[in-house]
Amino acid sequence: MAARGVGILARLPLHSQRRSRVQRSIPRHFSCPGTVAANFGSEEQPLGSAETGSEDKIPKKRFSEVQKERREQAQRTVLIHCPNNINEKKFLKYLSQHGPINKHFFYESFGFYAVVEFCQKDSVNSLQSEAHTPNKSTESAIPFKSRFLNLKLKNLSNQIPEQLSAQTNNQSPPSSKKLFELLNYAESIDDQLYTLLKTFQLTEENVRLRHLTCSLIEDIAAAYFPGCVIRPFGSSVNTFGKLGCDLDMFLDLDEIGKPNVHKNAGNFLMEFQMKNVPSERIATQKILSVIGECLDNFGPGCVGVQKILNARCPLVRFSHQASGFQCDLTTNNSIALKSSELLYIYGSLDARVRALVFSVRCWARAHSLTSSIPGAWITNFSLTMMVIFFLQRRSPPILPTLDSLKSLADAEDRCILDGNNCTFIRDLYKIKPSGNTETLELLLKEFFEYFGNFAFNKNSINIRQGREQNKPDSSPLYIQNPFETSLNISKNVSQSQLQKFVELARDSAWILEQEDKGQPSPSSKQPWGLAALLLPPGAASPSLSKKKKKPMAEKVKGLLAAIKSNSADISKGSRGKRAISTQA
Ligand code: GTP
Ligand code: MG
Repeated sequence: MAARGVGILARLPLHSQRRSRVQRSIPRHFSCPGTVAANFGSEEQPLGSAETGSEDKIPKKRFSEVQKERREQAQRTVLIHCPNNINEKKFLKYLSQHGPINKHFFYESFGFYAVVEFCQKDSVNSLQSEAHTPNKSTESAIPFKSRFLNLKLKNLSNQIPEQLSAQTNNQSPPSSKKLFELLNYAESIDDQLYTLLKTFQLTEENVRLRHLTCSLIEDIAAAYFPGCVIRPFGSSVNTFGKLGCDLDMFLDLDEIGKPNVHKNAGNFLMEFQMKNVPSERIATQKILSVIGECLDNFGPGCVGVQKILNARCPLVRFSHQASGFQCDLTTNNSIALKSSELLYIYGSLDARVRALVFSVRCWARAHSLTSSIPGAWITNFSLTMMVIFFLQRRSPPILPTLDSLKSLADAEDRCILDGNNCTFIRDLYKIKPSGNTETLELLLKEFFEYFGNFAFNKNSINIRQGREQNKPDSSPLYIQNPFETSLNISKNVSQSQLQKFVELARDSAWILEQEDKGQPSPSSKQPWGLAALLLPPGAASPSLSKKKKKPMAEKVKGLLAAIKSNSADISKGSRGKRAISTQA
């Protein structure tokens, strides 16, 4: 259908975007019949309740169900780079010529963007058929038809807008200053943990943008592998994602191999001809290599493409400029997807789990225990496992062991991947809620105490059995991979990093204990509770300097543990300058 008035849509050429600002009003009349109108409002029910933390209000869906719905939603969605001064009402009216719009929002990321979800997929096709490839006199653009579009104004003077401007949706975490303000005004430590969770968790819009980005990349990969699926995994989908976290995705080629229908062809069986390579690893490297090339050469908005093919798990890393996501693309990674599903279950079972994980992860980041650069640091994935393990150890347990989730499984839950038994119950309603009523304040303190005194030198952590076991090797930190049980997910962690973790855990337990004795008033300017834990030692909390009064027995215990584990660099925990950072 021809467009009138507002502008010309062009498929986005393979170069930059401009920074711009929009002025707009909020129309409420472009929604599909029977759905909530246009903008995201607080009353609206998001698809993946546990993903975005509104789990108290909404029935908990299965992971596979959420992922399927998100994928289908993303396929009906387009990403549009918009000019400044666009009038929102006219913009939506123009787009709705292609069919009713279900949802939309605007955000800024090196330019101004709109995410528009149509009610029907046909509307996307209709919009795409109207879009054209721009003619450039000075530069050459490679024609590429995608759902990432560019909106241009035909007549700028037409666009002097009504002066009502709505907020752009924020895709970034808050500043440290803002976070400390929020935490200081909380009413209790429990309230602080929930505040931190609400402030950092992925928003409904951010989750949509993540699925849309995967869907856009899938369109590109499908040029080589028709029928392939790009699936998000890791913290984007496991309920533990923080605003600003990376976007892990994997290319699933298994769907291609699945025959649609088995026709009775008598004695005949037809197969595709395929090229054979010496190993699965080589196949993975070849596939990722061509996809990497393709993203680099033709992927609108994909910049800084790196092919890291010799890693243990080969990957293509790139930035998706328009969404602002740092993306890691792998293939053959169904166990990682299964881990994401398991974490989704743990994150959905009890509201305290995510609150505790977010606080521990922010605490670790604030003290440089984790880093976005690969190295000897502990990872967020390992920290999440430690929190889960700790919650399995409470009395009564707050979380069930993986073995008990396996024992609840039905025949339809059975899952064997690469010879590993990855079976567990997937229906959240079949898992009995915990009778444990401990407060988050207590749990946080006990977490630090538990791991501040854990016998890392001899014991391993495993969430499958939910109990400490002898370490099978001399890695400083041993956290058993829940599915590939002979592997340690924290093999990379050095003794000095572990020691730093232990020292900080002890310090933090001590701070929380002092809080118990005389908590500053919530309105005081002095950081207290969780806020005090997120500061570098000595920065604002006088309590940390008192740490020296730690009982001698505790120090001796730590020293003995270190000697036993045969560490060279344990005597002094590396206490470099620690910057506060609240980024993922
Ligand atoms: P962020 O730090 O927020 O990105 O957390 P994340 O859980 O997404 O971690 P990351 O991006 O490092 O890894 C993505 C996913 O890969 C994890 O959620 C796990 O499912 C999996 N993964 C990461 N590290 C390991 C590991 O050492 N072993 C195994 N088996 N899986 C891992
Ligand atoms: Mg990740």
